[in-house]
Order: sequence, then C-alpha cells, then structure tokens
Amino acid sequence: MADVLWFNGRITTTAERVLGVEDRGFLFGDSVYEVFKFMGKRPVFLGDHFRRLERGLGEIEIPNPWTGASFRSMTSDLLGQTKFDDGIVYIQVSRGEAERSHFWRDDMTPTAMAFSRIYAFPDASKKERGIRVISTIDQRWLRCDVKSSNLLGNALAKKKAQRAGAEEALLIAEGSVREGASSSFFIVRSGRLITHPLDEHILPGVVRDRVIRLALAEKIRVEERPIREKELFDLEEAFITSTTQGVMPVTDIDGRVIGNGRRGEVTHRLQRLLDDAEGVEAGLGA
Ligand code: PDD
Repeated sequence: MADVLWFNGRITTTAERVLGVEDRGFLFGDSVYEVFKFMGKRPVFLGDHFRRLERGLGEIEIPNPWTGASFRSMTSDLLGQTKFDDGIVYIQVSRGEAERSHFWRDDMTPTAMAFSRIYAFPDASKKERGIRVISTIDQRWLRCDVKSSNLLGNALAKKKAQRAGAEEALLIAEGSVREGASSSFFIVRSGRLITHPLDEHILPGVVRDRVIRLALAEKIRVEERPIREKELFDLEEAFITSTTQGVMPVTDIDGRVIGNGRRGEVTHRLQRLLDDAEGVEAGLGA
C-alpha cells in the first residue's frame, strides 16, 4: 500500500518515483534521518526528534530545510492526510542531487522528505516476553552520534541476529557494549541502570534520554558508563529502548537466559512510566 509522502514541500504518495538517481542520499548515504511515533495522530517527543535532526545536519554541514515551526507544520500536513491514527513518520534530509563526485558543491539544495506508515508496535504479551539478542562486533563508522542513513553496519548486524533467531544485535567494540543495531541498551545491576555514555560511539536515543529522566525522577540510580562485555554474564535485568520498541526486555543474550528469563521488575516499571509519558505527550490523558 502506498503511504502519504511529503517530498520537497508537496504531498504525494510513496507510489510516485520522486528521487533522482544522483541524489547523494542514494549514492553516498549522505543524509540524516529521523523516526518518530504518533498516537491518535499526535506526534510523540517531536521536539526531541527535531533537535536531534538539526544537530545531525549541522554536524555534517547540510542546511536544515526546516525551522521548528515549519517542521511542526509539515508533520501536521502529513498526518492530516494520513488515514490511520497510530504509526511512525520516517523523515530524511539528504545533501541533494548533483553530478556524482566525492566533493560536494557548496550551493546544493537538500532533498527533504517524510512519510507516515502503520507500525505494529509491540503488544502487552510481547512487552512481557521480551526479545532474544546476540552480541556482535561493531563495524560502524566513528560518528554514530549522527543519525546517518548510511546503515550498512547496522543492517549487517541485524541480519546476523535474525539468522540466529534473535531480534536485535548488541554492538561490541573495545570490550564494551555500545548499543543495539537499532536501539539503545541498558542493564540493571544492584537495582541501578547502566547505559553507555553519550559520545560518538552511540546515537543519543530519544527514548534513552526519557527513560533516564523517568528513572531519576523515581529515585532509580543511573550510571552512564561503558558496559564491559563480561558484565553481560552478571546482571539482573537488561532491556533495549527505541521509538518503535519502547522499553523492551532482553531475556536472552547469545543463548544465555537473563535473570529468570522473564521481564524484570525495574524494566516493567520503566515500561509503565514510558507508556504514561507517551500518552501524556500525545494528549491521550494517560
Ligand atoms: N532507530 N541506536 C540506534 C543505532 C538506532 O538506530 C536507534 C533508533 C536508537 C534508539 O533511538 P530512539 O530512542 O531515538 O528511537 C538507538 C530507529 C527507530 C530506526 O532506525 O528505525
């Protein structure tokens, strides 16, 4: 089914072939993307996603086609044309289209687009069962703080996980767990949350940030430091976070059962807190 697409200022659908083959997003992965969730047609944590997009574009010197206000009005145009109430919006801004050359021109016009899509968010039973993950080497570039659409390292890790019967891959480098291939990663030890600090090795996850703030408000202690690989053998609970998965328990790592193999207490508490926060954001009065 074709989805509603906002492309360089006009509304169309994903059935239309809009992109030139020499767009640098296509040829070089020279672009930045975002994914946000909407509930009852209302965006969730939109300001956080816009700020991250703006920062990422700035880091790789692509002019931001939007201001905060024009971004909000673009998303409301898009959601106004969308036929369903809940889903995700995928946004991408590339440097634009020009004759192929590693050297980019300084006068380029970015290609900007966004489409809305139905998404099967995890239901209550999935949120209780959790997921299996594998660990694998982090083969990505050295600026993972930029949400670049150049996701080959992530996609290779994700495929490896799928082939092993798992849903996510934990990316390991220099003896530490950085994050998931498409999620942030937390462990719980002695009742405290531990997650990798914000640096160039991980994406500053919107949900990661929310979960840390929600935890601190509940007097749950949080340590932002690298998680040593060997700590995966000695932990009470583990979970991943992302826009699409929320707080998702990890119940098995490389075939080893975590905790009692079920969702842990702290994870469950954070799931509820995040669900409430999302509901409030979307104005659903949760
Ligand atoms: N991925 N780390 C990586 C590498 C990610 O790709 C993502 C999200 C996250 C979590 O970020 P957030 O909490 O802002 O969703 C962490 C999106 C959802 C995707 O690629 O589809």
